[in-house]
Amino acid sequence: MTESDAAPLNLFDFERLAARRLPAMVYDYYASGAHDERTLEANRTAFERIRLRPHVMRDVSTRDPSTTILGRRHPLPLIAAPMAFQRLAHPDGERALARATSSLGLTMTLSTLATTALEEVAAVATAPAWFQLYVYRDRALTRDLVARAEAARFEALVLTVDAPLLGRRERDARNAFALPPGLVAANLPSAGPRTLDAAPGESGLFRYFASLMDQSLTWDDVAWLRSITSLPVLVKGVLRGDDASLAIEAGAAGVIVSNHGGRQLDTAIATIDALPEVVAAVAGRVDVLLDGGIRRGTDVVKALALGARGVLLGRPLLWGLAHEGEAGARRVLELLAEELDLALALCGAARLDALTPDLLA
Ligand SMILES: Cc1cc2nc3c(=O)[nH]c(=O)nc-3n(C[C@H](O)[C@H](O)[C@H](O)COP(=O)(O)O)c2cc1C
Repeated sequence: MTESDAAPLNLFDFERLAARRLPAMVYDYYASGAHDERTLEANRTAFERIRLRPHVMRDVSTRDPSTTILGRRHPLPLIAAPMAFQRLAHPDGERALARATSSLGLTMTLSTLATTALEEVAAVATAPAWFQLYVYRDRALTRDLVARAEAARFEALVLTVDAPLLGRRERDARNAFALPPGLVAANLPSAGPRTLDAAPGESGLFRYFASLMDQSLTWDDVAWLRSITSLPVLVKGVLRGDDASLAIEAGAAGVIVSNHGGRQLDTAIATIDALPEVVAAVAGRVDVLLDGGIRRGTDVVKALALGARGVLLGRPLLWGLAHEGEAGARRVLELLAEELDLALALCGAARLDALTPDLLA
């Protein structure tokens, strides 16, 4: 048995296993960042740079990792990030992830660009789920997506604001990334833009965004979105305090500090480095979440110590899906939960509200 055949011990092991199993075009699409992938790398190195100053002797015999987000209790401060095209990882794709997250009482965020229709995901999710929205130039089509998410009882909308155009992921350009036959953007109506047209040397998804998404969005469009739905709107992709304040003024119920996993603007700031300014600007008015580079329980501790109410987990869930479908994604979440529990014990924090900035060096 080689090292990589052994049961995965951590989230990095899952990536190695998935890399062996997935076709190169799919692995590259999932793993890649924009341009030189500096932000992708920075999301990790920024977490590694921060050192912990643990308390000792604080009775950690029972530990409670639950948190409150949008007024609802979550058993863990973990949410599945929206990620497109999950049936590239496993035939059950988004439904497998919905089952895995639900089995732990956790929330999944379904991408607009899912390969499974939102109604089918809602039918298998037993915990509240969120719907991530990309705004198409075709506002009737966008409005219809929102109405369907509301009808299917999604709990919230996650409006992604960092992608007027898609970041340039050079691996996808080289691979002329496209969906294989049989997979479509299943949330779009059958007469709508369900497929990607690749061309040599270009990503089909890059072309899709350029031709179909609304590059004119401003904060006024958050008000428009709120006028067509009663669902709370979280704004995903904020990296500055001033933008976080504008999001709240526009009616956002939450702010997600994200650089899209390093897939949009390369050399953008690492999310954990952007978090303190956003938390200060938000000043408790709404919940702040963070994603990008969460791979260890201590990463979750660091984000919460700096004021996030929870974190979203991205790629490792795709690696879990690729390895073993629902069971793999569930194991990824369990491993991270076990690491978080251990980190809480070793930090002298029996509850998440004991995580404060003074824990960090
Ligand atoms: C393959 C892939 C697809 C993604 N698709 C979407 C998407 O459709 N909508 C969105 O808002 N973010 C999308 N993201 C960004 C994630 O929601 C999240 O911000 C990022 O992956 C978090 O970083 P991590 O992968 O390092 O955990 C995608 C990320 C990946 C890796």
